[in-house]
Amino acid sequence: MPIVTSKKMFADAYAGGYAIGAFNVNNMEIIQGITEAAKGLKAPLILQVSSGARKYANHTYLMKLIEAACIETDLPICVHLDHGDTFELCKSCIDGGFSSVMIDGSHHGYEENVKLTRQVVEYAHDHGVVVEGELGRLEGVEDDVKVAAGEGSYTDPDQVQDFVNRTGVDSLAIAIGTSHGAYKFKPGTKPQLRFDILTEVEKRLPGFPIVLHGASSVIPEFVKMINENGGNMPDAIGVPEDMLREAARMAVCKINIDSDLRLAMTATIRKYFNDNPSHFDPRQYLKPAREAIKAMVEHKITTVLGCEGKA
Ligand code: G3H
Ligand code: 13P
Ligand code: ZN
Repeated sequence: MPIVTSKKMFADAYAGGYAIGAFNVNNMEIIQGITEAAKGLKAPLILQVSSGARKYANHTYLMKLIEAACIETDLPICVHLDHGDTFELCKSCIDGGFSSVMIDGSHHGYEENVKLTRQVVEYAHDHGVVVEGELGRLEGVEDDVKVAAGEGSYTDPDQVQDFVNRTGVDSLAIAIGTSHGAYKFKPGTKPQLRFDILTEVEKRLPGFPIVLHGASSVIPEFVKMINENGGNMPDAIGVPEDMLREAARMAVCKINIDSDLRLAMTATIRKYFNDNPSHFDPRQYLKPAREAIKAMVEHKITTVLGCEGKA
């Protein structure tokens, strides 16, 4: 099946009370692990590429690997730019075959965000590509953007209608308390999301697909496994999976997951080397790492997203 946009995926997800997983990809094993899981469960899929991933693996290599996954799985797969920060980056991904881009203007003032997002939407729609915008600011660390604790801001529901109408975006990422990376909530505190904001956004944009970034759950088993095998991670707390499932029943149609894949992969490789200190064939440790990615994505599809059987 050829690469698709997320248009139909989101319409079906909204109507069906589930969400599509948007998983970050950086190399072949990650792409294979994710797509094998989705194939087995017949789940629609978004593979997303950050600018850091593009710098690491090269646009063409990633596109060709994803095209191979489309052939191998026969699934509807949307290829999405994660956190595009300039018109030029979005244009380059659109010209290079992505079916969806995010323009993240959330670090700009409101009017500048509207202007930049509108510019990307015009180019994208002329080329049959869909666009995700962002209002509100998540905390945490991505490759190129670091938002310190206390410097994030929740989405203002009073702005969402104006933003969507003026920009023409196809989906909107909002900030309701999730954050990027493994350290989302202070140890000892109870994780909370602002479902009141999500409800207000849903009222103002009926039927419109909402996106949640920073939605890894930081499963303790993997942090423990890292620390038992030579790692030294402090206590890390993610977003509880039942909250994500609840958001998926509401207007959230796309849930972004990267850190949980990184943790599963790293924990598995650390354990492999601890158990097999003399091994040095990359296939020996990348094989179980790929299996760990697959198992994590199967878990997300069935427990968090609810999109099994929807492809
Ligand atoms: O939200 C960002 C993703 O986790 C991608 O991270 O920029 O380090 O590739 P990255
Ligand atoms: P996590 O760091 O919670 O996996 O979030 C990933 C993300 O939002 C990618 O855009
Ligand atoms: Zn993100």
